[in-house]
Order: sequence, then C-alpha cells, then structure tokens
Amino acid sequence: MKGGIMSQSLLCHICCFLGLLPFWIQCTSSASRCAVQHEVADCSHLKLTQIPDDLPANITVLNLTHNQLRKLPPANFTRYSQLTILDAGFNSISKLEPELCQKLPLLEILNLQHNELSQLSDKTFIFCQNLTELHLRYNLIHKIQNNPFKNLKNLFKLDLSHNGLSSTKLGTELQLENLQELLLSNNKIHVLTREELDFLGNSSLKKLELSSNQIKEFSPGCFHAIGKLFGLSLNNAQLGPSLTENLCQELSNTSIQTLSLSGAQLYRTSNTTFAGLKQTNLTMLDLSYNGLNAIGNDSFAWLPHLEYLFLEYNNIIHLSPRSFYGLFNVRYLTLRCSFTKQSNSLALSPKIDDFSFQWLTCLEYLNMDNNNFPGIKSNMFTGLTQLRYLSLANSFTSLQTLTNKTFVSLAHSPLLMLNLTRNKISKIERGAFSWLGHLKVLDLGINDIGQELTGQEWRGLENIVEIYLSYNKYLQLTSSSFALVPSLRQLMLRRVALKNLDSSPSPFRPLANMTILDLSNNNIANINDELLEGLDRLEILDLQHNNLARLWKQANPGGPVNFLKGLSHLHILNLESNGFDEIPAEAFKDLLQLKSINLGLNNLNILPPSIFDKQASLKSLSLQKNLITSVEKDVFGPAFRNLSNLDMRFNPFDCTCESIAWFVTWLNATHTNISELSSHYLCNTPPQYHGFPVMLFDISPCKDSAPFKLFFMVNTSILLSFIFIVLCIHFEGWRISFYWNVLVHRALGFKEMDRQPEQFDYVAYIIHAYEDRDWVWENFSPMEEQDRTLRFCLEERDFQAGVLELEAIVNSIKRSRKTIFVITQHLLKDPLCKRFKVHQAVQKAIEQNLDSIILIFLEEIPDYKLNHALCLRRGMFKSHCILNWPVQKERKNAFHHKLQVALGSRNSVH
Ligand SMILES: *[C@@H]1O[C@H](CO)[C@@H](O)[C@H](O)[C@H]1NC(C)=O
Ligand SMILES: *[C@@H]1O[C@H](CO)[C@@H](O)[C@H](O)[C@H]1NC(C)=O
Ligand SMILES: *[C@@H]1O[C@H](CO)[C@@H](O)[C@H](O)[C@H]1NC(C)=O
Ligand SMILES: *[C@@H]1O[C@H](CO)[C@@H](O)[C@H](O)[C@H]1NC(C)=O
Ligand SMILES: *[C@@H]1O[C@H](CO)[C@@H](O)[C@H](O)[C@H]1NC(C)=O
Ligand SMILES: *[C@@H]1O[C@H](CO)[C@@H](O)[C@H](O)[C@H]1NC(C)=O
Ligand SMILES: *[C@@H]1O[C@H](CO)[C@@H](O)[C@H](O)[C@H]1NC(C)=O
Ligand SMILES: *[C@@H]1O[C@H](CO)[C@@H](O)[C@H](O)[C@H]1NC(C)=O
Repeated sequence: MKGGIMSQSLLCHICCFLGLLPFWIQCTSSASRCAVQHEVADCSHLKLTQIPDDLPANITVLNLTHNQLRKLPPANFTRYSQLTILDAGFNSISKLEPELCQKLPLLEILNLQHNELSQLSDKTFIFCQNLTELHLRYNLIHKIQNNPFKNLKNLFKLDLSHNGLSSTKLGTELQLENLQELLLSNNKIHVLTREELDFLGNSSLKKLELSSNQIKEFSPGCFHAIGKLFGLSLNNAQLGPSLTENLCQELSNTSIQTLSLSGAQLYRTSNTTFAGLKQTNLTMLDLSYNGLNAIGNDSFAWLPHLEYLFLEYNNIIHLSPRSFYGLFNVRYLTLRCSFTKQSNSLALSPKIDDFSFQWLTCLEYLNMDNNNFPGIKSNMFTGLTQLRYLSLANSFTSLQTLTNKTFVSLAHSPLLMLNLTRNKISKIERGAFSWLGHLKVLDLGINDIGQELTGQEWRGLENIVEIYLSYNKYLQLTSSSFALVPSLRQLMLRRVALKNLDSSPSPFRPLANMTILDLSNNNIANINDELLEGLDRLEILDLQHNNLARLWKQANPGGPVNFLKGLSHLHILNLESNGFDEIPAEAFKDLLQLKSINLGLNNLNILPPSIFDKQASLKSLSLQKNLITSVEKDVFGPAFRNLSNLDMRFNPFDCTCESIAWFVTWLNATHTNISELSSHYLCNTPPQYHGFPVMLFDISPCKDSAPFKLFFMVNTSILLSFIFIVLCIHFEGWRISFYWNVLVHRALGFKEMDRQPEQFDYVAYIIHAYEDRDWVWENFSPMEEQDRTLRFCLEERDFQAGVLELEAIVNSIKRSRKTIFVITQHLLKDPLCKRFKVHQAVQKAIEQNLDSIILIFLEEIPDYKLNHALCLRRGMFKSHCILNWPVQKERKNAFHHKLQVALGSRNSVH
C-alpha cells in the first residue's frame, strides 16, 4: 500500500514540476474518483486504503467494495451521518468498532461480506438499532459468543453463510424478533438442537437456510424452538432417506410451507418418508438433484396441501398409479430430466404406467422435457382435468407417427400449450390433435416430419393461435393446408424444405388473422404475387435465406413480382441473404408501418430513389454486406429520418463528394445507433482512400463546391434564357417585328385616321385572284343591292380605264376604308398580289389601324403557306377580322353577318 502512495506522490511531484496543476489536483484527491450520483457514492474498485473524506456530506449510499480497507474507523464516517447503506464488502476488514453505528444512526444495510472478521462482541452492533440487513458471509466467524445481535431489533435479514460456524446458536437470550431470513449455509453445523435455536423463539422465519452443512442429527423439538418457521432449505445436506424421514417428523406441527431438499441424496422415498409432514400445510417441495430412482407407492400421500413439486434431475425408473397418490392440490410439477437415461436397453427405459397422473386433478403445468420415454400410452395423461401447459420437448426416444389415438388421454384436459419439439416425429395423421380443441400453442419444431399437409392434420384445433413447424424434413403445401385453422396467428416454417408455395389460391389465404410468418431458410425461388395476399394483419415476415432475387429483377418474364403488396401492417421484414441485386422502386410502397427491415447479405448496389419514401416509422435498417457504393439523400433521406439502428457494415463505399458527402454529414449529426462505425465502414474507392474509415472522410472540399454550384446555376439560367429568346425570335419573330413596326409608326406620329365612313369612297377594296371573281361577284353585289350605302371597290368593275393598274390599286386602297383579302390557293399563286397589293394594304394597316384588313378564307390554308406566299399571318389581325367561308349552306347567313360586323368595326388598334 505504501508503495502505491509513494508512487502516487512521486507522480504528483512530477506533475507539479511540469506545472500541470489540474493533473495535480486529480492526483492528490483519490476520492474524487468516486462516482457520485443522486446521493450515491460508488468508490468500488479503486484500491482505496482510506475512507474518502471529500465526498458530499449528504450521501446516503456509500459503496466501498473491492478495495484494500483494513478498518472502518468511526471518526472517518462522521461526515457521512446520512448514510443508510454502507457496502464495504470485499476488503480486508478484521475489526469493527461499535461507534461506527453511532456515527451512522440512520444505517439500515451494512454489508461486510468477504472480509476478515472473526470476533463479534456484545458491543459490536450495540448502536445499530436501525439495521435491517446485516451481511457477514465469507468471513472468519467460527463462534458466536454471548449476544452480539441482541440490539438488532429491526433486523430482517442476517447472512452468516460461508463462515466456520459449528452451531446455529447466535445468542443466549430471545432476540431478533423481526428476523425473516437467517442464512447459515456452508458452515460446519452438524446438529440442530432445540437449545441452539431457542434464541429465535419470538421470530417468524420465512427462510432458514441451512444448505451445505453436514447435518447428521435433528434432535427432538429443534424446529419447535423457533417461533414460526415457514421455509427451510437443506440443499446439498446428504440427508438420505432415513434422516429425511427424521427431518419430516421434526417438522410435524410446524408452520412449514416450503421445504427445499435438493441434492440431499434422497435415493428413494417410501410411504413413511414424508409422513411427518402430514401435520403441516406444506405447499412447496423441492426434491431435485437427488438421484431419486424409486418413488414408493403413496410416498406423497401426506402432502394434500402441496402445490409445487420439483422432481427434475433424478433417476426415476418407474411411475405407478400410486406414485403420486395424494397430490390432490399440486398445480405445478416438473419432471425434466427426472427419469433414468438408459435408453439403449428397452427393458431399462423409464416406464410410466397408465393412470399414473390420475390423482393430480389440480395440475395445470407439467414439464416432462428431456427424458427417454418409449411412447405415449392410451391412458398416460388420463385424469389431468386442469392441465393447461404440457411440455414434452425431447421426452420420447422416437414418437414417429402421431395418430388420432396418440393424445386421446388428453381429451379431457383443457390444454392450451403442447410442446412436442425434438421427438423424432415423422408423420402427423389426420385428426391427430382433434382431442385438443382448447389448444392455443403447438410446437412441432425440430422433428423429422416429411409429408404433404392436406389440412386434415389440424382438424379440431379450433382455438389454435401458434404452430411451430420449423426444422423438419420437408413439407409440401396445398391450397387447403391451413384451411381448418383460420384462428392461426403465428406460423413458423423455417427450414422445412417448403414445396409448392406457388399454388393458387395461396396456402396462407385462409389465415386472415396471421401476424407472424416465418418462411426463412427454405431456398424458395418460385412464388407468385398471391402468396401473401389478404394477410392484412401480418406484422412480422421472415424470408431470409431464400432465393428470391429473380422475382425482383426488371428482366423477370412478366416483370418484377410484387409479393409484398398490401402488407400494410408489417412491422418487421427480413429479406437477408436472398441474392437480391435489384429492388423495384415500388417494392415497399404498401408497407406504411414498417419499423425494421433487413436487406443484409445481398448484392445490392444502387437502390431506386424514393424506395423508402413510405417508411416514415422505420427504426432499424440493415444493409450490411451488400455492394453499396454511395449513400445519397434521395434514396436514404426518408429512411434515416427516425432511425434508431443502422447497419451498413462491409459495403464498398466510394469516398467521393458525390457518393458519401451527404452520408458523412448525416453520420456526424445523428443519434442513431451505428455499431462498429469506425472499423467496418471503410472506403473502397477511390484507390487513395482504400481502407480509410468513412466517418473520417473530409467533407470540407465538398462544401467548397457550393459557390461553384451557384456559378453553374447562374450560367445555366443565362444560357437557357438565351436559347429561349433565340427560339422565340425564330418562331415568333415576325410578330415582334410587326408590332415593333406598328409601335414605331404610332410613336412617330401617324395618328389613327379615324375618318368618318362617308370620307371614304368605298367600304372595302377587295383583293382576290382572277379565278375567284365569280365568288366575289356573287357575294358582294347582293350586299350592295341590299344596302345602298355599301360600295365595294371591285377591280374589274370600278377601275377607270386607261389608268395605270398599279397606281389604280394604290388609289383604290387609299379610297377604301378596309381591304378584304379573299384567300384561296389561287391568290397565293398570283404574283401581283404577293408583291404589291399586300404590301400596300399592310403598310396602310401599320400606319393607320390593324382593323383595316379583313381576311376571308374560302378554303383551309395553313399559316405557314400564308406567310410564305403573302407575308401575312393570322396572328397579325384581330379574330373578328378573320372569316372562314362556311361549307354548309345554313351557316352562310352567319358568315354575312360576321362580314358586316367586320366591315362596320372602327379602324383602331384597340
Ligand atoms: C481516517 O482519518 C484520518 C485523519 O482524518 C486519517 O489519517 C486516516 O488515514 C483515516 N483512516 C482511514 C482508514 O481512512
Ligand atoms: C447534496 O450536496 C450536494 C453538494 O454537496 C448538492 O449539490 C446536492 O443538492 C445536495 N443534495 C441534497 C438532496 O441536498
Ligand atoms: C457496490 O459495487 C459493487 C461492484 O460494483 C456492486 O456489485 C454492489 O452491488 C454495489 N453495492 C451497492 C449497495 O450498490
Ligand atoms: C433510527 O432512525 C430514525 C430515523 O429513521 C431515527 O430517528 C432514530 O434516531 C434512529 N435510531 C437510532 C437508535 O439511531
Ligand atoms: C406402507 O407400505 C407398506 C408396504 O410397503 C404397508 O405395509 C404399510 O401399511 C404402508 N403404510 C402406510 C401408512 O400406508
Ligand atoms: C394449516 O392451515 C389451516 C387452515 O389454514 C390451519 O387451521 C392449520 O392450523 C394449519 N396447520 C399448521 C400445522 O399450521
Ligand atoms: C382414426 O383414424 C382411423 C383411420 O386411420 C379411423 O378409422 C377412425 O375412425 C379415426 N378415429 C377417430 C376418432 O377419428
Ligand atoms: C418448447 O420447448 C423447447 C425446449 O425446452 C423450447 O426451446 C421452446 O421454446 C418451447 N416452445 C414453446 C412454444 O414454448
């Protein structure tokens, strides 16, 4: 110890010399290394040799275990007067001073286990009235003299086990009236006498622990010396049959309720062994690990109040109809590993006679696991009219075929759970369980079952909830395999070489209540999208270790198979080890409540964006051991939002800004639990980062690309606008230049000449092709006749003879209020029109008003042809100035009306 202090102070001096003051402070006050939290100071495992003197004075719990303390000097505890718990176990304390309790008046629990106390005097605990627990196990106390515990009026538990006590005598006077547990196991007590127990005359012991003492004698009246004794443990006491019988006699007429005789070398019982317990109300008897091989008839006849009987780990050869006679109130019986193991010889294999359990009319729980029974007889379980749980795991050497007779003896048991795992069952015949109409849980896992399930196997299981069939030889399903058990909620079919899963309708179709389905480890490759249809309540689906990769390939004939559709309540989905290298974007779209998904050990590289968009409540995501190179926001953003566990270990991450910058940023900010982040999330590419931890990837250069990004965006938008303008000019340029012209002319002062109609000689000048003259004549002259004020300028009629034609045209256009183009294919071909008339008319329109031109289309002419031939476009003119000659006769009146409107409209831009 001194060496320790020396080296400590030396270290301090070095620290001081280095001027590292903070270190120095840490060095000198070793106590500050105690962890203090909520008035609890934990100073364990600190190699302390002194009581820390600088802890908060208001601590109530002080843990000094696993140190090197030799004493607990009372003065050093003055400061900690509020202590209620002092744990000084695992030290080298050899002496205790009475004043300790004086300094600690509130102390309730004092633990001094694993120390070197040997002497306790009358004074030692004299001030410890408030103590409720005193732990003194593993000390060197060989003898208690006088009454060291006399003042412990509130003591509830006293542990003196693993000392060298040779007697139970802890005092000479009545004391410890509140003691409930007295632990004296592993001492050297050989005899129990009245005189050595009578200090407990006023006590009510719930538990007297005397295990592992070499007790040879129970002298008369020993237990009657104790006020009340409810529980007694004498495990590993080498009692044998006769001393056990003697013990039970001594327990007669006591209040004993629980008796533990495990490992007491009770090889056999007879109708006298427990006779003494007749005058008790014993409810629990533990006879495990006794090597018990013969239970004599009526052995338990004395125990009508017994409720719990433990017989596991014995060597019983034979149960006869009277072995359990009298156990009318037993509710719980375990016979695990209770029978002889000589399986190789049938003659020596354990034998259970019919009707052996007939007396156990209150039995609810029976465990017979790990035995070697040859088979089930027709009345084996007869009489168990309250039996609810029957565990027969690994109970039979070979059960082979379950017939409709096998469980007939359970016909009157309201059985809820039957465990038949590991019994080498090879076949289930129809109606095998038809006796078990109440059954909720049936475990048939780990057997040799190899058959087609027709559905008749489950006949009568009207209340079944869970069936375990995992780990069997092979199971061939049909559409009716589960048709008779619609109440089923959990079905385990792991590693059963499932066949015929693609039958239609699906074998699972009747199971609308199913919540858990395990189809893992079956090498399933062929299923259709009907398999899980209608399983709306499914919460857990295990499909790991199958061969489903093809179903999700884009190249799959008929497209990807969406076998998860409609599973809107699924919480946990396991798809590990299926060879998946593709996932359809829609694969998880119905799984709105998914909390955990395991896609580990597949070949996934690129996941479709938005694949996890619907998984708002995802808590756990496993993608370990895939081929994922990049972790991008558009794929993983939604999945990572509420995640508490992520596993993406062993992926070949590409450590470039584009691939993992977002991931690294997320990693640095998240509280998600990610194990082995620094060791198993390594970069694969680029080569200079190979083997480098992803979390250490420097993302600052990636952030620098942000201004570049802005630059890029500005550039792009300028370019795009330019392209837009060019395209605009290309396609709408005429309009721009046309309206530009109009604007310029207006700006230069060409006011609209809003002359009155009478100021013009003609209402309109009509431009038409020579070939269309008949149409013009036919349509315009009647209008003139109707309305005397209307006068059109028709070239053939009104041109003064001898005037130069071009001049005539210019004049006529000027003298006409409007210009009408009668547009036909002929007009487009008329050279004069193209060159001159149109120019004149348009010039007039630009200078004066846009309403002055009226286009009449006699046939359908596309705009581009019009533009090409006449440099006119429909878009230049108001819609009421564009008229189409109707094909139907009835609409001709409407046409004339429109024409009149167009002619009458004012010549104005707006
Ligand atoms: C008790 O305190 C004294 C002085 O306060 C100290 O010298 C001594 O080492 C302490 N003893 C223990 C066991 O802590
Ligand atoms: C106990 O003492 C510490 C400081 O010594 C103080 O922070 C804490 O509030 C105290 N606790 C109570 C319950 O008084
Ligand atoms: C004291 O610490 C030890 C070891 O850490 C622990 O086993 C023990 O339960 C603690 N005692 C109390 C009273 O908490
Ligand atoms: C026992 O504890 C109570 C408070 O719980 C206290 O008032 C009393 O003084 C203590 N008894 C002794 C003998 O110190
Ligand atoms: C105990 O069994 C023996 C025979 O093994 C029988 O003679 C005796 O009457 C039985 N005693 C009681 C109390 O049943
Ligand atoms: C057993 O219980 C009954 C009723 O609870 C009681 O009258 C009787 O005294 C008890 N027997 C013993 C030996 O304690
Ligand atoms: C049991 O199965 C056999 C045929 O295997 C049949 O003849 C008999 O009627 C069945 N018994 C019951 C109770 O179903
Ligand atoms: C059946 O017993 C085995 C072995 O004790 C156990 O592992 C299994 O969980 C039990 N089955 C059920 C459904 O409790």
